[in-house]
Amino acid sequence: MTARKNIETLRTADIEIVAKIHATCFFDAWGPKMIQQVLDMPGTFGLVARRENYSSIIGFALARVAADECELLSLGVESEYRANGTGTQLLHASMARAIAERARWFFLEVAEDNDAALRLYRAHGLTKVGIRPNYYENSDGSKTSALTMRCELPAFK
Ligand SMILES: CC(C)(COP(=O)(O)OP(=O)(O)OC[C@H]1O[C@@H](n2cnc3c(N)ncnc32)[C@H](O)[C@@H]1OP(=O)(O)O)[C@@H](O)C(=O)NCCC(=O)NCCS
Repeated sequence: MTARKNIETLRTADIEIVAKIHATCFFDAWGPKMIQQVLDMPGTFGLVARRENYSSIIGFALARVAADECELLSLGVESEYRANGTGTQLLHASMARAIAERARWFFLEVAEDNDAALRLYRAHGLTKVGIRPNYYENSDGSKTSALTMRCELPAFK
């Protein structure tokens, strides 16, 4: 669905809706309390994508800077708004924020069969640096391996 969106800092009032979107994105859903705990960790920041002219939030990113590294902890876009550039905007904004907070390296974990996310991450220079076998549990009890991906942020190259 086409919609212009603004990327903003995640506020306390946004946590409930972010938890709802998280639950539609991941089997291992993070509830509001968990998201608050993540945001309370030192160095963590959250971003939301908000539809322009509407108040609705359609995506989020959570990331944490520690020393010269930034880890993307979670990224999700509501299913009906996917494939419309929102994930790209959130990733871009997360990288920009990481650079502003003096991170040099950006990394994340992603399921090895998550084609949309892999395409997004590769397009932003992230490459596979490791694998965690059977890292994620799926709703049917099966397991999926995670790839660790990493890149040097553009400001440092
Ligand atoms: C991954 C995710 C955040 C991407 O968000 P999005 O808003 O669809 O991203 P964009 O519209 O910016 O598209 C990014 C790329 O993914 C591609 N893409 C989007 N949906 C896709 C799909 N279903 N299959 C394959 N590629 C897809 C787009 O084509 C685009 O690539 P391109 O620029 O080369 O065309 C979204 O699919 C999502 O929330 N998935 C569920 C949660 C998740 O997997 N998060 C990542 C965990 S590490």
